[in-house]
Amino acid sequence: CGIVGYVGHRNALDVVMGGLRRLEYRGYDSGGVALPDPTTGRIAWAKKAGKLANLDGVLAETTMPETATGIGHTRWATHGAPNDRNAHPHLSEDGRLAVVHNGIIENFAVLRAELEAAGHELQSETDTEVVVHLLSDELQRTPALDDAVRAVCQRLEGAFTLVFTDAQQPEVVVGARRNSPLVVGRGDGENFLGSDVSAFIEFTREAVELGQDQVVAITRDSMTVTDFDGAPAETTSYHVDWDVSAAEKGGYDWFMLKEIDEQPQAVAETLLGRYGRSGRLQLDEMRLSDDELRDVDKIIIIACGTASYAGLVAKYAIEHWTRIPCEVELASEFRYRDPIIDRSTLVVAISQSGETMDTLMAIRYARQQRARVLSICNTNGSTIPRESDAVIYTHAGPEVAVASTKGFLSQIVACYLLGLYLAQVRGVKYGDEIDAIMAALEKLPAGIQRMLDEGEQVRKLAAELVDTRSVLFLGRHVGYPVALEGALKLKELAYLHAEGFAAGELKHGPIALIEDGIPVFVVVPPKARDQLQEKIVSNIQEIRARGALTIVLAEDGDDDVVPYADHLIRLPKVPTLLQPLVATVPLQIFACELAGLLGHDVDQPRNLAKSVTVE
Ligand code: G6P
Repeated sequence: CGIVGYVGHRNALDVVMGGLRRLEYRGYDSGGVALPDPTTGRIAWAKKAGKLANLDGVLAETTMPETATGIGHTRWATHGAPNDRNAHPHLSEDGRLAVVHNGIIENFAVLRAELEAAGHELQSETDTEVVVHLLSDELQRTPALDDAVRAVCQRLEGAFTLVFTDAQQPEVVVGARRNSPLVVGRGDGENFLGSDVSAFIEFTREAVELGQDQVVAITRDSMTVTDFDGAPAETTSYHVDWDVSAAEKGGYDWFMLKEIDEQPQAVAETLLGRYGRSGRLQLDEMRLSDDELRDVDKIIIIACGTASYAGLVAKYAIEHWTRIPCEVELASEFRYRDPIIDRSTLVVAISQSGETMDTLMAIRYARQQRARVLSICNTNGSTIPRESDAVIYTHAGPEVAVASTKGFLSQIVACYLLGLYLAQVRGVKYGDEIDAIMAALEKLPAGIQRMLDEGEQVRKLAAELVDTRSVLFLGRHVGYPVALEGALKLKELAYLHAEGFAAGELKHGPIALIEDGIPVFVVVPPKARDQLQEKIVSNIQEIRARGALTIVLAEDGDDDVVPYADHLIRLPKVPTLLQPLVATVPLQIFACELAGLLGHDVDQPRNLAKSVTVE
């Protein structure tokens, strides 16, 4: 979910709606706003199921007061169907208080029963609503809003970001967080709360991170942060290194198209400043000492979705360069299987948002087991890097489209930097070898740009295949995760049956799926990998003989594939380990184009959300 809070000198409704629009990628099942109206001492509110456009429709027909304080919410439903009634804000019975919430209140059933026994009438099926009634009761005893919020938080279990407004104290907005994200934006005569900085980037680039179990109260001119007991808490301020234009579409129809196009730059930025003239890699944010890194005897990469495929790619490179065993595991599975970890294990968490709850819980578990945790993350100040021993930021700029694109490529690059750095520290590979790989990496933005420039071929192909219901993807070695990612993109965006396979597994089952006309994308390893390339060329023949429509991605000069390719997408010649960084691009374009042709919302696919802050 996305949350906004504002106190200042502008029209709060405009600020809150603007913030929600930028946060809509976090969830779009419903939207709502609450404004404390000092003239009535009650909350003015509006909420509506569906995307924010529906809320806009309601607001167009409602007279809302002009206030300088407001809160808002865009929802990804957990408890209760995504209908109007369950939309946030939730209000106290007297209309004085409103709350918006991201996360899950795990003990809500107990609290609900208690409130109902005390005579409260709850309106919704959400876990959230209990909080506003608890606060209403608490305010009878504890008049200041922030004090009352602290008291209520003590009673809540689970994960939450909560933001409250009180029509009888409209000069203050109070937020609280445990495990779910919340940041403060500091302006001049105005202050903001947001699930992430894009909520207020139009007005200020000065942000403050909040820690776990903290309560923040903002007024026009002040910000007070405490723990749940009221003791003052330390905070960290930072300057956001991108501006509002980065969070806007800039003439593109979809954020995803813009983000696909930004990939050369995203990769270049992730590499920037990491390789000194001295011929040595520098990772300035690396808070682990060389001694600690030399101590590592096992690496476990944990991540979800697309980020986990970046991890699968990285495994090949990291093991090859460092000779340290490297596993990749879905974050949601990791802590439930009793993994073998100790002080010498390096857990690498990959997360674009830095807020994915499955990944966060996995790193907490890893740290409890004394493992060292390094995160690869795109979002400054987010929870996962805050709770890691070290971080490598990807510097891809904000990624708004739900389906990850530039996030993925920059994650692979950051993992490679980590692998090379480990190799350097441990003395496995150095000097010339690192130079050669870094030189190839530095040429990559040009290779990615070429894939973008040649995108028209892929768009035409999408138009030809618009009626297809099922698409398969094959790859080997680092091309295997590329196949998985190609399939995931099609599922997410075009709602098609799509599967990625390791090409060697084809004969062990998936080949039964091949029937006349089924499109199969095949990522062919560079010719330099003789055996792999030859084997996959045989696979292409096998599936074509059984009627598949073959769409072959092969490097320049690989003519072995020509006789068996119904469509041939050329890739620049790059070292095998770098091929995913160019081969993924046409698959992204294909999925994006097909989804657009099918009339789907490319940036906000059904049922998904960008940053899933529940387990
Ligand atoms: C969600 C998104 C995916 C994303 C995954 C991991 O499920 O829909 O596109 O890959 O989360 O996100 P993260 O922010 O942790 O990289």
